Amino acid sequence: MDTQSNIPSGQSDDLVSADAVDSILADLFLTPEGLTDPYPRYERVRELTPVHQTALGHWVVTRYDDVDTLMRHQQGLKDPYRVFAPWLKKEEWPEHAALRRLPDILLWINPPDHTRLRKLASYAFTAKAVRGMRPRIEGMVSSLADRLQEAGSLDYMKEFAYPLPAMATGTMLGLPEADLPHLQDPMRAFQDVYELGLTAEDLAACDAGAAITDAYFTDLVNERRAKPGDDLLSALIAAKDGDDRLTQGELIGMCNLLFGAGFETTTNLLGNGLFALLSHPEQMARLRAEPELIPGAVEEMLRFDSPTQLVNRVVDEALEIGGTLIPAGASVIGLVGSAHRDARRYTDPDVFDVTRQEASVLSFSSGIHYCLGAGLARVEAQVAFTTLLTRFPRLRLDADFDEVRFRPRLTLRGLESLPIAVD
Ligand code: HEM
Repeated sequence: MDTQSNIPSGQSDDLVSADAVDSILADLFLTPEGLTDPYPRYERVRELTPVHQTALGHWVVTRYDDVDTLMRHQQGLKDPYRVFAPWLKKEEWPEHAALRRLPDILLWINPPDHTRLRKLASYAFTAKAVRGMRPRIEGMVSSLADRLQEAGSLDYMKEFAYPLPAMATGTMLGLPEADLPHLQDPMRAFQDVYELGLTAEDLAACDAGAAITDAYFTDLVNERRAKPGDDLLSALIAAKDGDDRLTQGELIGMCNLLFGAGFETTTNLLGNGLFALLSHPEQMARLRAEPELIPGAVEEMLRFDSPTQLVNRVVDEALEIGGTLIPAGASVIGLVGSAHRDARRYTDPDVFDVTRQEASVLSFSSGIHYCLGAGLARVEAQVAFTTLLTRFPRLRLDADFDEVRFRPRLTLRGLESLPIAVD
């Protein structure tokens, strides 16, 4: 397939450059090295071109303003059939547990259905509900910190960064705490469906995970319908807009979305954020000395190593971005991780600086799909880092830096494990 870029045209060098961009992107999206170390690749593409059509047919947008435009533009629509397993026929989707609910969930639908579902979900997901979670999150963080103190050393990803968001979202949804450890592996397997380059084998693993979470949430919705509690799921079941309510399928989809979106992403914010601090001891010392900087530091963690590295849109009409006309029907990837290192928006973008106050991060998206859980995720991270820095003056990595590995995943970027030690 021909590729296109807005590298200035008219010279044979341009073809060489378009090929070069293509090979960097293939390396970025399809190799373990690219997936685990994306930033130098982003930089090379971003400086060669703001917009590029890859050999796989996707268009890629690399600079901050252009990614923001893509997210906000009303022509930037969702089409899960174009994004996930594009090699599969639409009629085959219902056979796949990981795919079959996607076309009906909030994250993957367009107005007017999106407007309707978002309004219903927002009734239950209010700022007041999130504020009310803070004392409970403080309690959860404190008991996880107790465990860390007792153990002296542990895998922070497994023992802290996963359980906290699972407990927080689980508590909000009304899931029994004892069920949470059993949901981690199936939910994580299911979430891999969001990665690019999904193969039939990968999809089978996602399906196996989704079948478990789907059965779990079906039972839970039925239980809460029969016996409502004081939780988000009961509120979602009861949520009404005139005569409109969420259907059974929408409720199960919503549970999968909230729990899935609520844990892997926040887990990775906690993991990538702590790793950034451990890799920059002077920044960690500054935060210990001035804990009032922590909310801003969480924004910098989101910018520096975002848990969400990309978003997908399909444009329904031709759309000009970064000086290039992207044709109607094109599938476009906005590289959030690259936008966050764009020197047009951030001073010294590769520097991790907890005092930075510049353009807002795009990790939670912008426009109509702006993350419903952003407030909750921010509270979890602020409470977690405040507690970790206050309670553990000698918090350190319990391994060599080069032993710490990122999972070879780009949509949701996070660490395999993070061994830490305290005194
Ligand atoms: C650091 C943590 C988080 C990050 C980075 C994150 C990121 C995102 C992003 C990028 C989107 C929109 C994707 C797009 O525009 O295509 C989104 C949507 C969403 N997120 Fe989050 N999220 C996080 C935590 C949470 C939590 C804790 C919850 C709920 C408990 C949540 C629930 C949702 C929901 C329901 C949507 C769909 C909104 C819509 O389509 O209207 N997220 N999130």
